[in-house]
Amino acid sequence: MRSFVATALAAAGVASAYDFSNLAASKNNYGSPFPDTVYPDFVSKDPVVVEGSKEFQQSPPKYPSPWTEGLGDWSEAYEKARDFVSQLTLTEKVNLTTGTGWQLERCVGQTGGIPRLAFRSLCLQDSPSGIRFADYVSVFPAGVNVAATWDKKVAFDRGAAMGAEHKGKGVDIQLAPVAGPLGRVPEGGRNWEGFSPDPALTGVMFAESIKGIQSEGVMACGKHYIMNEQDHFRLKPDSEAYGFNISEPFSANVDDETLHEMYLWPFADGVKAGVASIMCSYNQVNSSQACQNSYLLNYILKGELGFQGFVMSDWLGTHSGVASTLAGLDMTMPGETTSYNSVETWFGGNLTAAVLNGTVPAWRLDDMAMRIMAGFFYVEREIERDPINFSSWTKDTYGYEHYYVGEGGVTQVNDHVDVRGEHGKLIRQWGAESTVLLKNVNGALPLTGKEPLTAVFGYDAGGNPDGPNSCEDRGCNNGSLAMSWGSGSTDFTYLVTPDTALQNEVVSNGGAYESVLNNYGLEYIGELARRSNVSIVFANSNAGEWYLQVDGNLGDRNNLTFWGGADEALARVAGNCSNTILVIHSVGPVELEKYKNHENITAILWAGVPGQETGNAIADVLSGRVNPGAKLPFTIGKNRKDYGADVLYTPNHPVPQIDHQEGKFIDYRAFDLHNITPTYEFGYGLSYTTFNYTDLKVTKVNTSPYTPYMGESKPAPTFGNFSKNPADYTFPANFTRVSLFHYPWLNSTNLTAASADPHYGLPGFIPENATDGTAQPIPKAGGAPGGNPSLYETVYRVEATITNTGPVAGYEVAQLYISRGGPYDPVRELRGFEKLWIEAGESRTFVYEVTRRDVSSWSSGEQDWYVRNSTKKVFVGASSRDLPLVATLS
Ligand SMILES: *[C@@H]1O[C@H](CO)[C@@H](O)[C@H](O)[C@H]1NC(C)=O
Ligand SMILES: *[C@@H]1O[C@H](CO)[C@@H](O)[C@H](O)[C@H]1NC(C)=O
Ligand SMILES: *[C@@H]1O[C@H](CO)[C@@H](O)[C@H](O)[C@H]1NC(C)=O
Ligand SMILES: *[C@@H]1O[C@H](CO)[C@@H](O)[C@H](O)[C@H]1NC(C)=O
Ligand SMILES: *[C@@H]1O[C@H](CO)[C@@H](O)[C@H](O)[C@H]1NC(C)=O
Ligand SMILES: *[C@@H]1O[C@H](CO)[C@@H](O)[C@H](O)[C@H]1NC(C)=O
Ligand SMILES: *[C@@H]1O[C@H](CO)[C@@H](O)[C@H](O)[C@H]1NC(C)=O
Ligand SMILES: *[C@@H]1O[C@H](CO)[C@@H](O)[C@H](O)[C@H]1NC(C)=O
Ligand SMILES: *[C@@H]1O[C@H](CO)[C@@H](O)[C@H](O)[C@H]1NC(C)=O
Repeated sequence: MRSFVATALAAAGVASAYDFSNLAASKNNYGSPFPDTVYPDFVSKDPVVVEGSKEFQQSPPKYPSPWTEGLGDWSEAYEKARDFVSQLTLTEKVNLTTGTGWQLERCVGQTGGIPRLAFRSLCLQDSPSGIRFADYVSVFPAGVNVAATWDKKVAFDRGAAMGAEHKGKGVDIQLAPVAGPLGRVPEGGRNWEGFSPDPALTGVMFAESIKGIQSEGVMACGKHYIMNEQDHFRLKPDSEAYGFNISEPFSANVDDETLHEMYLWPFADGVKAGVASIMCSYNQVNSSQACQNSYLLNYILKGELGFQGFVMSDWLGTHSGVASTLAGLDMTMPGETTSYNSVETWFGGNLTAAVLNGTVPAWRLDDMAMRIMAGFFYVEREIERDPINFSSWTKDTYGYEHYYVGEGGVTQVNDHVDVRGEHGKLIRQWGAESTVLLKNVNGALPLTGKEPLTAVFGYDAGGNPDGPNSCEDRGCNNGSLAMSWGSGSTDFTYLVTPDTALQNEVVSNGGAYESVLNNYGLEYIGELARRSNVSIVFANSNAGEWYLQVDGNLGDRNNLTFWGGADEALARVAGNCSNTILVIHSVGPVELEKYKNHENITAILWAGVPGQETGNAIADVLSGRVNPGAKLPFTIGKNRKDYGADVLYTPNHPVPQIDHQEGKFIDYRAFDLHNITPTYEFGYGLSYTTFNYTDLKVTKVNTSPYTPYMGESKPAPTFGNFSKNPADYTFPANFTRVSLFHYPWLNSTNLTAASADPHYGLPGFIPENATDGTAQPIPKAGGAPGGNPSLYETVYRVEATITNTGPVAGYEVAQLYISRGGPYDPVRELRGFEKLWIEAGESRTFVYEVTRRDVSSWSSGEQDWYVRNSTKKVFVGASSRDLPLVATLS
């Protein structure tokens, strides 16, 4: 049986297209035929075990993979997809699912095309903050800045602006937005690409970004699904490159309740918002690879959340063919198996062979194609569409059609289309609107504009002397931090530094201006600070993606302090100037306690990672043209230990094991649970005016009780006929192949030879029900995109009055928290918020409609949501720790 085969394969160190190692690793009390092999030698040393965090830490096998049925508002897209897919041959369907190979075409990912129907290949392009690898594009503020605005409209508008730029370059799928990492660990390298460690805030921003991107006719890709909470040990090959010897990507071990109430929450919002695609992540979850984890893909994403679009792998995140397909993966990227530019693919010819030999049912391939085309039509893309007019691999006008292999002849690969429109103005505005004012004493801000001498300090105020794009994917920390590093980066078309913008400002006001753009000339720094009327110190802390290391930070940060001598420079300035203003550019929290308490530091601003207009944006806030209204989307703790969870920096097992023993208690939930006072709490932020909260009103809304979904699916449909004769699937005569390209055709009519799977045809184990195309029950918590519709019904209406009691008009982000009152529930959790513009002396009403989901708890046993019989409270106020209005929810 398979256990023998698996052992033999593992011993031989050979990968097979036919791999059910995920089942071997899942616990055997859910029908897996394999003994429990969950690393009995591994004992976690993490001392902080929260009650409940070990419950149902499993990913039991769940088959068959649910087929799309056009649920919710997908029916029109479904019908168009059916008409299209019904015309396709087997190899054409396979083409849609398979990336053609890294750097072989123009986008970071491209599928095969369908030339017979004039359907060009799908172009998939990074990044979540603009278009990666392209000219004449905008560099938008990072996701963490969008979260700091707490402004739904900013999230939507930024999505729409990015979508418009992608569309203008011919991109079909923007690989954005990000809700995983959520931000379990503040050092997490990619947290800035996403939004906030709070699932409700992230969920709203994720959904609005999706709607924005897709409003421009570009498919969004919600990523990375799921528990991708650190970059260390995400894949074996890139870990080996740093000298770490691991045998598989890390396994994030998480209980089902935490999964549902925290990490899955924003993905539910994204699916509800109609996201066309989801990217599965590099890591394992509960000892099963995220891209072949049938519990996460089949059961939760496509079953419970009713996801109607398609799942693509992260780049090289696919670990098998047959097993992944049956577990719910619909598209493999960039096409090859385990290393870039290898000739082998798990899909392509292997998928064609697997359908012909019957291990992958025809309905499953049809569903893969249907899901991809339904996503395409859902955003109203058209078969005949603009060509891809840029190349990711060169900025030259002319280059090889197939870049990596230098084939296909030299052709025009870049049209240099300027897609920026008026986005620069919006980016400036969003930069200012995402700047959080943390401290402001002695009337330090706004500046008067009449300061005789303004001094600016820090490399973070200036440009990169080698040029803003000189480091690969921004993988360095020279100059002002306007964009962090990795595949989430974008190339600058221009960059307005703080030094430039502030000098222009001061000079236009008739003042004197001097800047020192390094942190090491301490003697002169002190002397200049002593003479100046105001000293503005810029300091930063950077992070990025694991494949690039900066100053020994392998993606994830090594510390939560400032980089590059900023502490020393700041100490020197503050020791000499009693009006020192600190501006922080950072990917997340930095330790600030001593600066909060420093008598000469009169103001502190967190400006995040603001994009190309960073200088103008900070000038707008410092001058008072913009009254800051942003709030922290994370907690700034006194030190990193206060957060509890941390990055696993050295492997603790050949398959690194990351036990989420803190459960739901990350960020402010951890601080609240352990009663730790942070420096600045989640949701905190000042304004140049003040607000007062009064008149809380809670109205119970009469709704019918929660109804578990009872329906079943239809039987799996198939579209079109196909012959079972391998001879019909060999390469067309005289076809000129591009080297290293992944095609859907077979090399030989002998399937064993064509597949080249070293274990082809070995008696394999097909999980129970995996090929069953009969009608299937739908999970109780399911029934529509986003989950059971009755979760989203309003159960309470909460109102409060907010009055601007200060001198100027401004924004206030009113926040609503709920205490669900269960034994293992967080003290309070954010559920709703609204950013309100309020004129001086005026009042506005904050309204939030509490949904059933907001007060529900997940039951692992029942596999459903329920409202616990406990005392629930609602809080409204200005931050997670400034909540003057409280009421009990009856
Ligand atoms: C099919 O997958 C196997 C790995 O099991 C690989 O060795 C082989 O090259 C793949 N075949 C094709 C056509 O890519
Ligand atoms: C698959 O896609 C490739 C690349 O776009 C194309 O050359 C080939 O003709 C396609 N195959 C089929 C069957 O359409
Ligand atoms: C079917 O094809 C797949 C893909 O090449 C291969 O991995 C598997 O071993 C084959 N199974 C059988 C039963 O021939
Ligand atoms: C924290 O890391 C940064 C970047 O590597 C480094 O510049 C800084 O000195 C470190 N801080 C401390 C206190 O070691
Ligand atoms: C604050 O600045 C003054 C100079 O203006 C200096 O004399 C004093 O020592 C500074 N305070 C601290 C705590 O550094
Ligand atoms: C805020 O409102 C409360 C309740 O009406 C009132 O007692 C308090 O004085 C107000 N505070 C300010 C600063 O206006
Ligand atoms: C393939 O090329 C050969 C030689 O050029 C030619 O004789 C033959 O007709 C071609 N076959 C097809 C199907 O085009
Ligand atoms: C199929 O044939 C091509 C051309 O001869 C060769 O490069 C490729 O490696 C073959 N693939 C397999 C899986 O045998
Ligand atoms: C099919 O190919 C395999 C692998 O190359 C070979 O061992 C086998 O003999 C072939 N079968 C036939 C019928 O030619």
